[in-house]
Amino acid sequence: MKKRIVLCISGGIAAFKCAQLVRCFVKEDIDVTCVMTESAKQFVTPMTLGILSKNPVYDDAALKDEITRPLHIVLAQQYDAIVVAPATGNIMAKAVCGIADDLVSSVLLAASVPVAFAPAMNEVMWKNPATQENVAKLIARGATMIGPADGDLACGVMGTGRMCEPEEIFERTMLMLGKDGPAKGKKILVSAGPTREAIDPVRFISNRSSGKMGYAIARAAARMGADVTLVTGPCAIDVPYGVKVLPVESTTQMLDAVLSVYEDIDIVFKAAAPADYTPVETYDQKLHKKDDLSLELTSTPDVLGTMGAKKTHQFLVGFAAETYDCMEHALGKMERKNLDMMVLNDVTRPGAGFDVATNIVTVITSEGACEWPMMSKEEVAEKLVTQALDEAQKR
Ligand code: CTP
Repeated sequence: MKKRIVLCISGGIAAFKCAQLVRCFVKEDIDVTCVMTESAKQFVTPMTLGILSKNPVYDDAALKDEITRPLHIVLAQQYDAIVVAPATGNIMAKAVCGIADDLVSSVLLAASVPVAFAPAMNEVMWKNPATQENVAKLIARGATMIGPADGDLACGVMGTGRMCEPEEIFERTMLMLGKDGPAKGKKILVSAGPTREAIDPVRFISNRSSGKMGYAIARAAARMGADVTLVTGPCAIDVPYGVKVLPVESTTQMLDAVLSVYEDIDIVFKAAAPADYTPVETYDQKLHKKDDLSLELTSTPDVLGTMGAKKTHQFLVGFAAETYDCMEHALGKMERKNLDMMVLNDVTRPGAGFDVATNIVTVITSEGACEWPMMSKEEVAEKLVTQALDEAQKR
């Protein structure tokens, strides 16, 4: 079901970023209703937020209509979460004391759903013991604090007090919404991206993997409430919020990293594309150009194969990116590596494979194979986590 959140905007310059924050929610199909203090309206207009959210925007004038409908109760109790951004020192102090003298503070006093605050203020105001004590009290009462971040402040100084960027507030809200989700209590290991095998200090052997599929799985699992560890080769994409990251470079490092946590893990998604070969000799100095060069290569460890051989209770999901005889190769790998689920894709098909935003996968389990239609890697990721949780449950 579509998630619904209330975005409470209090009066700080960072309120202008709420337009972008609303867009982040709407883009992911989250219904967002904005509630503004009178001073917030000086920094961003209700019309901007109304157009972007496609919902009415409420301010203190709405309190006058409460004779027929207790709006502050509806907003405080009938949505999935409340996000206060920017959260000024003033609104947090009011929330701590239970002051309800406008619509935003009344919503906070009546709140029975999870609440997140994204503070924004001058550094001295942030560090003031009054604010720090208020923040500690809000956290102790179960609120989530998103930031503040360090950086340029509107008052012309550098310091702590900047509101987090809308993308971070959005991602952390998604984690808060999913914290009791279907993956709650599950420890999920995802490995992603390519590995690199050094030839000399400036050259390496690698492959075209972007890491997008693995990162999308890590993000989806975290949003469903899992405790996620991401073992990643070098990737040029942002690491998802709320996951533990173990960065690695070579296939051997990837093996060591996954084995260091393996015992405790419930489900493994091995979406990485480890380099299969490494030079027998690695040069300490840069190799200078000559007419011909032959490199002798030797195979790297099979990370997933090693996990398959050591498997006790773990549910192992492998990936096979193939170009011909796809099903035969995938089934062979599933058997050889002792896997519970295999995600096959034919990378020669448009819309599947490396460095594209979509994927077309066939999911193979002990019960058979099922081809999924073309979807974004995010949709594939969500469905894969859901299916792995279901299959692991059945065992
Ligand atoms: N894999 C791994 N360690 C390797 C190679 C692959 O853990 N050294 C994992 C991949 O992460 C993937 C699965 O094994 O989940 C299949 O990878 P793939 O490259 O398709 O298979 P290979 O075993 O390398 O076989 P081949 O080169 O014959 O395709």
